[in-house]
Amino acid sequence: MSGLIKISPSILSADFSKLGSEVISLEKAGADYIHIDVMDGHFVPNLTIGPEVIKKIRPLTKKVFDVHLMISPVDNFIKDFASAGADIITFHPEATSNVSQTIKLIKDQNVKVGISLKPKSKVELIKNHLSQIDLVLIMSVEPGFGGQKFMPEVLEKTKVIRGLINEKKLNVDVEIDGGINFENCSKAKDAGANILVSGSTIFKENKGDLKKNIEILRNN
Ligand code: DX5
Ligand code: ZN
Repeated sequence: MSGLIKISPSILSADFSKLGSEVISLEKAGADYIHIDVMDGHFVPNLTIGPEVIKKIRPLTKKVFDVHLMISPVDNFIKDFASAGADIITFHPEATSNVSQTIKLIKDQNVKVGISLKPKSKVELIKNHLSQIDLVLIMSVEPGFGGQKFMPEVLEKTKVIRGLINEKKLNVDVEIDGGINFENCSKAKDAGANILVSGSTIFKENKGDLKKNIEILRNN
């Protein structure tokens, strides 16, 4: 219902021992974006990768690097992720003392800005920033790990945010992240999400047939 749907596979579920070829396979399989989850063991209880790894995979594809920063405080690292090759930098409002300033820091790097809401984070946290950003990332699991169960209660928040964006006639993407599968993806789209992130479904279903899994998520 929200027009063109984009699929942003999360490399968190990829085989990190061959990350480069995994990224190339995702591009061949029809991924629109590459979702890169950055965790610091402080904002979330897990550690993943940093700018150096992103820099190494950057030359392998022209696909949009959709970088989801789960790190706090976030401001000090924005420049590093932008120079590493991020096209979109998404942060959590709880990870900064000044949301407007963080938005500006990202824009100053000529990178698109996203703000992410955890399942319990309220719409009010971003309401006044909608006109300054490019994307809202709605978490449908608690951030930190792949393979968790989708939380259907975030669908209502997705509808509210899509409603606000449409009401103000803004050009803001709504992305949903966490536990997306073949069954709930249509509910996420109906609620107004136009970008779907998926790790486990894309890498594990149908014996890891990336192309097939991306297609089903896009068309279901
Ligand atoms: C969780 C990450 C998600 C996650 C998605 O903190 O932001 O991107 O890896 O993985 P699945 O699709 O397995 O829930
Ligand atoms: Zn993510």
